[in-house]
Amino acid sequence: MATRNIRVIGDEILTKKCKPVRFMTPRILQLIDDMFETMYGQNGAGLAAPQVGILKQIVVMDVDDGNQYVLINPEIIEEEGSQTGSEGCLSVPGKYGIVTRPEKVKVKALDTDMKEFVLEGEGLLARCICHEVAHLRGELYVDLVEGELRDNSELEEEEEGEEEQA
Ligand code: NI
Repeated sequence: MATRNIRVIGDEILTKKCKPVRFMTPRILQLIDDMFETMYGQNGAGLAAPQVGILKQIVVMDVDDGNQYVLINPEIIEEEGSQTGSEGCLSVPGKYGIVTRPEKVKVKALDTDMKEFVLEGEGLLARCICHEVAHLRGELYVDLVEGELRDNSELEEEEEGEEEQA
């Protein structure tokens, strides 16, 4: 495993649409391992392949619920309710903003064996799924922020909390 460089806002690759994965290869498995290592190295909750410069529809997530999620070619098939809360992104370092997302989502995806499954997420997992799937469309959360994009240093002063970065 190896960590990869994270692309940051302003890099054109973050605005491009990703291509679906057609079949699994050792290189893609390596990429997924590297994405986890890169995400954990930065205390992230999720990472999408374009954030490490690869325009493929691959997402990894770990929202501290005891699971490591890999979503290949994900498609959100149901959304329910709404939640409004703070959100950050490893590609927008040092910032956070308030974003409204569905409270629950159902996402259809392939696993690393290219078998289809459906994942239901609520709360933080639902937020993370929406955030990461948007990366695959070339969209960043900063365009959804209500009010100002803020510095994490302000958050630490106010709440002394550690922000989830995806
Ligand atoms: Ni992100």
